[in-house]
Amino acid sequence: MDRRRIVNLDDLRIMAKRRVPKLVYDFIEGGVDDELGLERNVAAFARRSLVPRYMVDVAEPDQETHLFGRTWSSPFGIAPTGGIGNFRRGADMMLLRAARAANIPFIMSGASTASMEDMAREAPEHGWYQMYTANDRAISEDMIRRATDLGIQVLVITVDVPVMANRERNRRNGFGRPLKLTLDTRLDALRRPLWLRDYLLHGGVAMLENWKPYAPAGASAAEVGTFVADQMPASITWADIERFRELWPRPLILKGVMRTDDAIRAAETGVDGLIVSNHGARQLDRAPAALDVLPALDAAVGERMVLMLDGGVRRGSDILIALASGAKFVFQGRPTLYGAIAGGNEGASMAVEILYNEISSVMAQIGCPSLEEFGPDWLHRDPDDLRRNYPQ
Ligand SMILES: Cc1cc2nc3c(=O)[nH]c(=O)nc-3n(C[C@H](O)[C@H](O)[C@H](O)COP(=O)(O)O)c2cc1C
Repeated sequence: MDRRRIVNLDDLRIMAKRRVPKLVYDFIEGGVDDELGLERNVAAFARRSLVPRYMVDVAEPDQETHLFGRTWSSPFGIAPTGGIGNFRRGADMMLLRAARAANIPFIMSGASTASMEDMAREAPEHGWYQMYTANDRAISEDMIRRATDLGIQVLVITVDVPVMANRERNRRNGFGRPLKLTLDTRLDALRRPLWLRDYLLHGGVAMLENWKPYAPAGASAAEVGTFVADQMPASITWADIERFRELWPRPLILKGVMRTDDAIRAAETGVDGLIVSNHGARQLDRAPAALDVLPALDAAVGERMVLMLDGGVRRGSDILIALASGAKFVFQGRPTLYGAIAGGNEGASMAVEILYNEISSVMAQIGCPSLEEFGPDWLHRDPDDLRRNYPQ
């Protein structure tokens, strides 16, 4: 990977796009229906600004952030992304290692292509586990038991996949179940030798490792995939969250909550935090941007729960804007994934480094020496925006 060609996160996206077939890139980058949500996520950040303060010593901006009993070196982490060993073999562990090296959290996807056992061995303090609930709840309960026994510190339950989403790019590429790849898609894959070699050398479809123990013995990766497709999406209810709360002894997070009433119910159920999210605009195209609902959730439950956010973060300044809007911590998904695809371990670390450096630079620009001091008073209060999104 030629580091000199990479100035920002979008450069990593472009580099990753060149490496993988169109169907893979479309799967990662795509949204749903008309893909209005993708634009909305980015626009929510672009609409907001930070008012700089000057005459402050900002020689060494301090990004340290305390969360769930631990001190992290930055206020952001890596969101869960599923199936990524198919895009570059070993991508889950590349992201995990990048997180460990930078002392930030990595959330392993409930559809990951590495196991939580691998994660706990490699980075016991930096790996959190995101669970997709199975139709057979005994599987979910066993996953919680495994995560508990392994000492995994935080469990994230994704709640915003009640049904599969209408991802039209995938449908046009024939990328679904069953797989019906178009001729164009197949020819395109042949034009991506680096990806093809990596994929074929490792035996094709990557194993969904966390689910393997529950599939019939000896099932191939493709068969485990079919098994998982039968288990998900499961229609989960508050009764499930109550049950998971009883079983899980450490911080419990719900990912995908967007409504104040759901947030209040989560707090009453003993949930410790939320990742406010529209799943990277991959589920409900008409969902608001997480940033736009955050202030209302903060007003309702900010004192009782840790509010975090993801979706559309592409710059360090986006992370600061989210923090100023009520988030205690921020996640991003696609940028670090593109880093791993483009450049393996090094690429994943570069993506993290870019965000780290951008945060430092913006902290200096706005006169904020430490995130301990940072808060809503840096946010430019545009009167229209204020009326629309920030409760008085
Ligand atoms: C390729 C891909 C796979 C994803 N897989 C999962 C998943 O398995 N579980 C989950 O909770 N969210 C999943 N997400 C959503 C991310 O966790 C996160 O909410 C989203 O990527 C944030 O938006 P951003 O990509 O704009 O940063 C996935 C996103 C992408 C791009």
